[in-house]
Amino acid sequence: MANPNDPKDPKVAPPGGLSRGLTSYGDAGFSLFLRKAFIKGAGYTDDALGRPVIGIASTASGFNPCHGNAPALLEAVRRGVMLAGGLPVEFPTISLHESFAHPTSMFLRNLMSMDTEEMIRAQPMDAVVLVGGCDKTVPAQLMGAASAGVPAIELVTGSMLTGSHEGARVGACTDCRRYWARYRAEEIDAAEIARVNDQLVASVGTCSVMGTASTMACVAEALGMALPGSASPPAVTADRIRVAERSGAQAVALAKSRLSPADIITAKSVENALRVLLAIGGSTNGIVHLTAIAGRLGLDVDLARLDELGRETPVLVDLKPSGQHYMEDFHHAGGVPALLRELKPLLHLDAMTVTGRTLGEEIDASGPGFAQDVIRPLARPIYAQGGIAVLRGNLAPGGAIIKQSAADARLMRHEGRAVVFENAADLAACIDAEDLDVTADDILVLKNIGPKGAPGMPEAGYLPIPRKLARAGVKDMVRISDGRMSGTAAGTIVLHVTPESAMGGPLAYVRTGDRIRLDVPARHLELAVSDEELSRRRAANPVAAPTAARGYLKLFLESVTQADQGVDFDFLRPPRA
Ligand code: FES
Repeated sequence: MANPNDPKDPKVAPPGGLSRGLTSYGDAGFSLFLRKAFIKGAGYTDDALGRPVIGIASTASGFNPCHGNAPALLEAVRRGVMLAGGLPVEFPTISLHESFAHPTSMFLRNLMSMDTEEMIRAQPMDAVVLVGGCDKTVPAQLMGAASAGVPAIELVTGSMLTGSHEGARVGACTDCRRYWARYRAEEIDAAEIARVNDQLVASVGTCSVMGTASTMACVAEALGMALPGSASPPAVTADRIRVAERSGAQAVALAKSRLSPADIITAKSVENALRVLLAIGGSTNGIVHLTAIAGRLGLDVDLARLDELGRETPVLVDLKPSGQHYMEDFHHAGGVPALLRELKPLLHLDAMTVTGRTLGEEIDASGPGFAQDVIRPLARPIYAQGGIAVLRGNLAPGGAIIKQSAADARLMRHEGRAVVFENAADLAACIDAEDLDVTADDILVLKNIGPKGAPGMPEAGYLPIPRKLARAGVKDMVRISDGRMSGTAAGTIVLHVTPESAMGGPLAYVRTGDRIRLDVPARHLELAVSDEELSRRRAANPVAAPTAARGYLKLFLESVTQADQGVDFDFLRPPRA
């Protein structure tokens, strides 16, 4: 009588596939027997069950319109897997949308990464396709996959289409902020802002500018974890569906080659990804996420090195919020392969990718390119230096960053009087008060929006211009916080001040009336208060780090690291050697 688990029987799953990670019943043969019995209940044949198993991590969710095309993508991935001889098996994970996650999606990114890691590890798959897109989903998936160590390929959902308001092209979410600022300044009325609201998100897909989602899509491709050319096709295009089919087929090849995330995410590929992030004028959030992804493999992203790369790497991509175009224009201009061609002299060309070929080989295979005005040549950049600068000084001993490509050039060297808000609630209560003592030359400071402070380091670093100044025509001011800002936002905004105020960093002791000096060319951020006075303030008002009694919040507050460590949980990094 045939043994249903006999490895010599061609109908039985070969090593790997369904035989991976058996459930513990104390009898491996019985465990496999039982597993096959259950999955056969779904109508699978022995032939199907003998194929390489390709997991497909699905983040389809009614609360995530950025992934609204997921059903079509999942179907195409399944087709690609089957055409290449694999067995696709879909499974759900947490899905996070920026506007549907309270208090902030960043609070839940690490939870999603743990879910992704453990579900990849717990279920029998030879490789996995990670279908993500909205800001925190791609980093969470890459963090989880890096830790799980199973061959993985990222597939982003792609950007939304742009809409039109009274003849002007609009898209989320740079234009969301621009029109909201005009509404706050009483330049447009309630009826017009409601019409704008209908047009900002013209289709499913991720934000249409170089925000965090687009940045992470480009980072995933530059890192080698996504197919060449896969970052830019918009969500609702045939190109996007074809990328999905090819990603499924490539996952089968990965299952055979056993090329793992650790073979692809290396010090060299992380540096390539940083170069791309700088050259696209990418989101500041991308730095935090890439630090966390690299950290899962024991790799550090050194802020000093980041600043060096920033000085050497020009901004070449002319997309909002740093420039003028949208993601669909970037795609039509050739996408990441066209950018990599320009950046070639600055890249580590021997870095491996999910295709099994090196980045250099993929660049050579991408052909010569064509004339367009979205991706500039290296010799004719939009900004000679990269979009992001690293600041240090007594206000940020552990560093802070500023997206200079999206800031006002006149404020790059600025000294002003601090106007301090103790937390987000204080800001909300006071920012629009007619009697707020503030001028356009002042520097707005917001405390307690760091990793532990808010908690979750919300995107509240884009402080609004006080209403009375906005009405007077003020468009930008220096703003400083320990929080993040949306990748779609613009302004002279200093972020990620480390250590954060909730941990007793110097930011906690800034008072209204103190003088602050910002010097971006010198990479300096200085609070003009003596060390002795800061010590006096610290002794008079010591900061107690926030705590929680139970649940995920307790885990978060006890384990989350600062911005320079990626805001990951300390126990998710491998122990330092
Ligand atoms: Fe999902 Fe912008 S809200 S990408």
